[in-house]
Amino acid sequence: MRVRLKEKLATSLTPDVLSRVYSSFDIVGDIAIIKAPDNPDSATAIAKQIMETHKKIRTVFSQTSPVEGNHRTRKLTLLAGQNTTLTKHKEAGCIFIVDVAKCYFSPRLSHEHLRVAQQISTKETVVNMFAGVGGFSVIIAKTSPQTRIYSIDINPIAHQFMTQNTQINGVENRVYPLLGDAKELVETQLQNTANRVLMPLPEKALQYLPTAVLALKKTGGWIHYYDFEHATSHENPVEKTQQKVTEKLGNLDIKHRFECCRIVRHTGPNWYQTVLDIQITS
Ligand SMILES: C[S@@+](CC[C@H](N)C(=O)[O-])C[C@H]1O[C@@H](n2cnc3c(N)ncnc32)[C@H](O)[C@@H]1O
Repeated sequence: MRVRLKEKLATSLTPDVLSRVYSSFDIVGDIAIIKAPDNPDSATAIAKQIMETHKKIRTVFSQTSPVEGNHRTRKLTLLAGQNTTLTKHKEAGCIFIVDVAKCYFSPRLSHEHLRVAQQISTKETVVNMFAGVGGFSVIIAKTSPQTRIYSIDINPIAHQFMTQNTQINGVENRVYPLLGDAKELVETQLQNTANRVLMPLPEKALQYLPTAVLALKKTGGWIHYYDFEHATSHENPVEKTQQKVTEKLGNLDIKHRFECCRIVRHTGPNWYQTVLDIQITS
């Protein structure tokens, strides 16, 4: 489908514009989000082409700001189709209702949702510190029927959709949506609780790492740590992330080892999103 779209757009766009549009192109439910060129006529033509190629898409938005603020949301401008930011997205056999203007949601995390879910053994307690509308939490609960997940988000609208998503996927008895700041909630309610902690908020990961350790059981456990890293062509972004995490945990006198560590995606020139699976051993 994507290849077909790229071929069609290639006939009307310069290679530069094509690569910008194409690399930013996301589909959430029946909504497509692109970084459109400034020229409004080209932007509308691209949007119409997308709707023609992908028959299930009913709306195309241009992303007109970076993902920003505490709630990690972005500004969207309608290019074509129905003017609604509410949609129903399917992933890994689960359904997610999401408002793409009011909450964070990225189909680019789908590989990570499943990768982490598949590591969970039969009966665990998980703390998801930055849960959004529940991507990791719902998929983990579905994949691992004896696992319980405390699922935190500071955005009241994301919390509301997360609650709804636990219900429509039938996991409301094992995913507990909590509204508030992850640090405050861990300190007041979730100390020494988890076998596993998820930290899918790269902007605050290093700052909140001691909180993730606090949420783990005293015997230790796993932290899935996401970060953004700058790296030149001579540097390894994963190693750079490992170095700063090692320094932070070393200062706290916490023993750890790294298991799977990888680049999740390229986020800009010389910028990467990385993930470290960290085993805390004491
Ligand atoms: C990148 S999104 C999470 C994506 C989500 N895990 C998924 O799989 O779709 C980060 C989330 O962290 C939330 N957030 C930001 N600061 C927070 C904090 N201090 N405590 C809890 N949640 C926070 C934002 O509202 C946002 O929904």
